Amino acid sequence: MFFNKVLEGLPDPIFGLGEMFRADVRENKIDLVVGIYKDEELRMQLMPSVKKAKEQILTQDLAVDYLPIDGLRSFCDEIGRLAFGDERWKVHHGRIYAAQTLGGTGSLQIGTAFLAQEISKEAVLSNPTWANHSAIFQRAGCKTSFYPYYSKVLHGIDLEVLFAFLKTLPEKTIVLLHEVCHNPTGCDFSQEQWRALSLLMQKHKLIPFFDCAYHGLGDGLDLDRLGLEIFLDDGHEMIVSYSCSKNFSLYCQRVGALFIVGENAAIKMRVGSQVKRIIRSLYSNPPAHGARIAAHVLQEIDLKKQWVEDLGAMRYRLATARKCLIQHLSHFAPEFDVSFLQRQKGMFSLLDLDKSQTSALIAKFGIYLPENGRISLTGLSPQNTAAVAQGVATVMRGF
Ligand code: LMR
Repeated sequence: MFFNKVLEGLPDPIFGLGEMFRADVRENKIDLVVGIYKDEELRMQLMPSVKKAKEQILTQDLAVDYLPIDGLRSFCDEIGRLAFGDERWKVHHGRIYAAQTLGGTGSLQIGTAFLAQEISKEAVLSNPTWANHSAIFQRAGCKTSFYPYYSKVLHGIDLEVLFAFLKTLPEKTIVLLHEVCHNPTGCDFSQEQWRALSLLMQKHKLIPFFDCAYHGLGDGLDLDRLGLEIFLDDGHEMIVSYSCSKNFSLYCQRVGALFIVGENAAIKMRVGSQVKRIIRSLYSNPPAHGARIAAHVLQEIDLKKQWVEDLGAMRYRLATARKCLIQHLSHFAPEFDVSFLQRQKGMFSLLDLDKSQTSALIAKFGIYLPENGRISLTGLSPQNTAAVAQGVATVMRGF
C-alpha cells in the first residue's frame, strides 16, 4: 500500500481549536478563537456595503473566461490605492508590481516563494506572531527564527532589545512586519518607532515584508498605513501582503493582493514575470467573484463611503468589547492590573495567560481561546463578557 506510513499531522492551533469548539456540546460554551468579525449578537455577516456590491455584481453579465495569471487589474489598482494611499500610489505605482492572490495567506505564500527563489531564504518573525507565519515561510524553503517583539514585563514592545537583535542579522534577512493590529498582541509601533525601524533596516539592508491583514480596524484607513508610508518614502524595496478577509468580510471568497515595490519600472516588469511563473504553476490564475466585489465597493463613490462607515462601526464594536472586558476583569480580579489591555489595538487582545490557564478555561468553563492567551474580541457580547471575565479571573488566581 502507498499511504499506510503517513503520520497524522498536528491540528492547526487556530482552526483546529475552532473544530473542537464546534464539537463541544456544552450550551454555555464561548468561542474566542478565530479572528472573524461578529456583531454584538455574535452574528457573522457581510458588511452592508459589501452585500450591496455583491447584489449589484450579480446583475451584471460578466466575462466567464480565465482572469490573467495575476488577477483582475481593476482590483489590483484599487487595492494598491487603498494600501499605499491615493497620492503615493499615483507617484509610485509605476514601480510597484501587484497581483491578486488567494487571500492574505496566498499572498504571503507567493511573496515568500518569490523571495526564496530570487533573493533570500532567511526570515525572522515577531515573537509572538500569527500561528501560520512560520509554516508559510518554511514551506517555501525559508529558515525562520524569531525577533524579540512583545515583552510580557512591559506589556508592550521592547524596542531596545528588538533593535539590538535586528542589528545582528545578516544582510538580506527578510523581516516580517505586521502593518497594524499586530496578531496576537495588539501592540503596534508608534510613528516614531516606525521611522527608527525604517532607518535601521535600511542601514542593515534587511528586507521588509509587511503583512497587512487588518487595514482599517486599528485607527482607521489613513492612520493604519503609517508604517508602510514611512518605508515607501524612505525608498525601501519591499513586499506587502494585503488581505481583504477582515476589512471586506470576504473571508471565504479568498481575496487578497501581493505588492512588490522595486526601484523602477524595469525591475517591476522582471519581478512580475517571475511571480506569474510561480502563480501559474500553483493554481494558474485566481477566481474572479470576490475580487470583483471588492473592486466594485472601491470604484463606486457611494458604496466606498458606506464601506468606510461600516469599518468605523466595526472599530467601535471592537473598542466597546475591549472596554467592557477590562471593566469586568477589574471587577472580578481587582488585584491584577489589566490596564495594559487598553493599549492593544484591533481584533485581538492578548491576556496574561499561559497554556495551563487557557487549557483550564476550555476544560472547566467552555471558554475557547488559543494557548497563547489571545482572544478574538468579536467573540465577546454584552451577555457573555462577565462570564469570560469571571473564568479568566479564576484561572489568573491559579484555579
Ligand atoms: C486568526 O488569526 O484567527 C485569523 O487570521 C484567521 C486565521 O486564518 O488564522
